[in-house]
Amino acid sequence: MDAQQIIKAESDYVLHTYNRPPVVFTQGKGLRLYDSEGREYLDFTAGIAVTALGHSDTEWVTAVAQQAAHLTHVSNLYHSAPQAELAQKLVENSFADKVYFCNSGAEANEAALKFARKYAKREIGNQRLEIRDSTKISDLQSPISQPPISKSKIIAFTGGFHGRTVGALSVTWKEKYRTPFQPLLPGVQFAEFNNLASAEAAIDDDACAVIVEPVQGEGGVHPATPEFLQGLRALCDAHDALLIFDEVQCGLGRTGHLWAYQAYGVEPDMMTLAKPLAGGLPIGATLLRQKVADVIQPGDHGSTFAAGPLVCAAANVVFNRVNRPEFLAQVTQNGAYLQHRLKTLESEKMTAVRGRGLLVAADLTVEAAPVIAKARENGLLVISAGENTLRLAPALTVSREEIDTAVAILETCLD
Ligand SMILES: Cc1ncc(COP(=O)(O)O)c(C=O)c1O
Repeated sequence: MDAQQIIKAESDYVLHTYNRPPVVFTQGKGLRLYDSEGREYLDFTAGIAVTALGHSDTEWVTAVAQQAAHLTHVSNLYHSAPQAELAQKLVENSFADKVYFCNSGAEANEAALKFARKYAKREIGNQRLEIRDSTKISDLQSPISQPPISKSKIIAFTGGFHGRTVGALSVTWKEKYRTPFQPLLPGVQFAEFNNLASAEAAIDDDACAVIVEPVQGEGGVHPATPEFLQGLRALCDAHDALLIFDEVQCGLGRTGHLWAYQAYGVEPDMMTLAKPLAGGLPIGATLLRQKVADVIQPGDHGSTFAAGPLVCAAANVVFNRVNRPEFLAQVTQNGAYLQHRLKTLESEKMTAVRGRGLLVAADLTVEAAPVIAKARENGLLVISAGENTLRLAPALTVSREEIDTAVAILETCLD
């Protein structure tokens, strides 16, 4: 099929949930992507913060090819070495005691919400369960001596994005994403991001979980303040609610720290990961403390595909490479350099540049979409984070020369 035929076939047969530009990518190497016409692009999207080591990294390709030749899938009914290895690395290098594997960011958040609900139920004991939740007639008929609490409330934040499945969507802020699919999960309450008073008003003894991105990605690349995350930790402790950090986008080196939370001196009870973890293959992970792990039993949750040998072999390469002080230091330095270079473009059209590490945004006074289209025509791929915000999330291996080239192309698009 040539490019036109591919575009037509996709339009005819693939459900239209994405608006795609008329480009067909056929190859990638490092920060470069090539289309069917042989045109080269500098990729500052990394497949939405996924291809952390760039495209077709040699070590990654070798590991994937070797693993595929040995064993790709056995399901989670059986043990396999790459999964055990990855789990050990994630646990030994984080706050967590256990990891649950799945296939995407949304799934990782679904798991976290389920685990929080089950943890809360155990904590409050049967008598105090809310009547609505009861499935036993005897419970419905028994007199209630005190107002029942459900301990099922989940607090999420303005600007937050956690995925498109029903649970994850329920805690996602944008109404445009939620409204067509209502009713969603009951018991979700939104508070204002970075506003501790607003969080305090929402988090009470009825709350089982608080879910927050330490650095909001889709919402416009907004870092939480240290006081906010520290305050959430204290509120969760006071009300026996679990604190969930969604590091699907900001985790695993993107901010220059292995985990974004490490910059805040605050540890969560659960943390969700996905995008970059396997460098381009689908994976998700929910990291949890032992007290939460203790309430989960075989059969409570699961996934056929999750963390098979192939995807974990890829993830082990990514983790080993990213989890090195010199690698993380370079992310910090190159992220600062990218912000510094972008700030030179600040003007009437580009008003503010911000970010953490190599997750960087630039606010525009014009719509982002035409700027993104022009950049693509000029050989640079960037994405948006809201109507008027450009988002740059290159592979963590990006070089200064590539940053210079990207900024020079962007400059021509803002004329
Ligand atoms: C912070 C965050 N959480 C969750 C998700 C959902 O991840 P996925 O698209 O893999 O389901 C995303 C995706 O952009 C995200 O940025």
